[in-house]
Amino acid sequence: MEATLEVGARLSKARRVAVLTGAGISAESGIPTFRDALTGLWATYDPEELATPQAFERNPVLVWNWYAERRSRVAACVPNAGHHALAELERRIPEFLLITQNVDGLHGAAGSRRMVELHGNIRRVKCSRDGRIVESWDGDLRPPPCPHCGAPLRPDVVWFGEMLPEAAFARALDAARRCEVFLSVGTSNLVEPAASLPWIAHRHGATLIIVNTSMEGQRNGPGIVHLTGAAGTVLPAILAGLALPDCARSPDTGRL
Ligand code: APR
Repeated sequence: MEATLEVGARLSKARRVAVLTGAGISAESGIPTFRDALTGLWATYDPEELATPQAFERNPVLVWNWYAERRSRVAACVPNAGHHALAELERRIPEFLLITQNVDGLHGAAGSRRMVELHGNIRRVKCSRDGRIVESWDGDLRPPPCPHCGAPLRPDVVWFGEMLPEAAFARALDAARRCEVFLSVGTSNLVEPAASLPWIAHRHGATLIIVNTSMEGQRNGPGIVHLTGAAGTVLPAILAGLALPDCARSPDTGRL
């Protein structure tokens, strides 16, 4: 509890904050992780059979159906206290960027706006030929054709073997280099290039705060604070310690 209050106090003085989230923040909303989603009918598949451009070329019906099922599961979930706390944190920090690896769209649903979705958003659909986002499609056809060019539509997510959206990653990298505090929430920090962001921030002098139910495999050392617990509990507690209004922040450097 003391560490949480201390983190809140540090954040109160910070003017530049970046946050990286992973599957852990959505666990309390009931979103299954990528592998947990491979149950029932899907249990015999490898992610590589369903989440690659080659899989879509080979069997577009199968891939579309898998994403359609996941999309409907995500649509039934709502943001939890962790998502709401980050949306609130954004409102209190002058320079803020939320970087998420999640495709569930729950940060946006909670009100986060200064945000990059590094791996896309499963609720969105795009043309497989030119990447144009499509708002509505014929649900009877699997996959439906693009209303503009007729090419099959696909989910707007980054598949294995695909590049991250360049502009989104550049924004994330810039925020990691500039921030005074970097929060890493509910991510195992294993999947590159997002996994490097906390260490880039740390190398550039930011205090790194790790929020996770398990600290196994997470780095430790000077300038790194571990807050062990569920994001839905820890993040609201941090916010509770963030008492100072914006105008009361140190007008000089904003350093912690
Ligand atoms: N609060 C905080 N942390 C949690 C919670 C919770 N309620 N529940 C689980 N965690 C932690 C786990 O301890 C683990 O460290 O969240 C982390 C989830 O790790 P991963 O499942 O590896 O998810 P993530 O880091 O987001 O994976 C990155 O890999 O599967 C691909 O593309 C997919 O975006 C994903 C990427």
